[in-house]
Amino acid sequence: MHVGDRDYRSIWLAGDGWRVEIIDQTRLPHEFVVRPLEAMDDAAVAIRDMWVRGAPLIGATAAYGMALAMRADASDRALEAAYSALMATRPTAVNLRWALDDLRGRLAPLAPERRTQAAYARAAEICDEDVETNRLIGAHGLSLIEEIAARKAPGEPVRILTHCNAGWLATVDWGTATSPLYHAHAAGIPLHVWVDETRPRNQGAHLTAWEMAGAGIPHALIVDNAGGHLMQHGQVDMVIVGTDRTTARGDVCNKIGTYLKALAAKDNGVPFYVALPSPTIDWTVSDGVAEIPIEERSGDEVSLVQGRMPNGSVGMVRISPEATPAANPAFDVTPARLVTGLITERGIAPATPEGLAALFPDRAA
Ligand code: MRU
Repeated sequence: MHVGDRDYRSIWLAGDGWRVEIIDQTRLPHEFVVRPLEAMDDAAVAIRDMWVRGAPLIGATAAYGMALAMRADASDRALEAAYSALMATRPTAVNLRWALDDLRGRLAPLAPERRTQAAYARAAEICDEDVETNRLIGAHGLSLIEEIAARKAPGEPVRILTHCNAGWLATVDWGTATSPLYHAHAAGIPLHVWVDETRPRNQGAHLTAWEMAGAGIPHALIVDNAGGHLMQHGQVDMVIVGTDRTTARGDVCNKIGTYLKALAAKDNGVPFYVALPSPTIDWTVSDGVAEIPIEERSGDEVSLVQGRMPNGSVGMVRISPEATPAANPAFDVTPARLVTGLITERGIAPATPEGLAALFPDRAA
């Protein structure tokens, strides 16, 4: 995506061909800061502390983390240590396990002296595949937006609500939920995007709003509690969100608060779509509520809010009494019955075991 006067992906190799660079997402929207990752530990910290975040980008960063580890020490012991360290960074997004299993599966049979080059090559391939996958998700999702636009008066915008950031920053490029938006905008379809702020970390306010503003897509930031009201008043034509792990039967785990949006959408007859690349499907899991590990993050993320101060500096303010503890479950699960459809790189599937298996017979088996 375009930032300032150049095109960026969310992760890339520096000119020396081995150092990895990322955009520090904890600094957006106020500062655009590029950070180098020079060792596997840097990649692990980047994922754990959410300099990078979003399921596909977590997977891509882990893949480069394996490459950085092999560059330092390509022994069997180092391979296993890197796998375990990176796997321990965040528990919910299954793209992390997918990428690490993929890298370990390819590297383990190789002689150590061949591992570094193979790891870099595969990490680059994972990034390129993610870009193409998300482009295809956009092309499929565009058809849904076109259908709604066709029912509207000329010039009337299609109003789409999204939660968290499933944008280009959460992937390598395009985003998942946002890819159909970029495609529709490029096709000249008028849009209005409702951006949920997404407490506690405000990925909507900090990241999705920044992306929409950068692309010139009309949008408005709303508090997380506004979505139901807007749907009741006919101001939302569809919801599109991303996901960190979707089960074989179509249950969708995504950022905390997604489930409440799906309930409100169901009650108001608003179509609720989930956009996902196939590495986000966990074929080993069926019942998302019972089986997906939900990350519990620090209560400080609830009690302290980051923003730009009147003097221009970026800082944190406390919004609750010092004595009040906070709980911070970071994800929730939306049961498949509330999901209108799953937008994947192979097309749009109903959120059912049969629907997913029909699109991915090779993987479902
Ligand atoms: O905690 P985060 O910011 O990593 O959570 C991200 C989300 O929940 C996204 O919606 C999800 O990863 C899909 S990204 C295409």
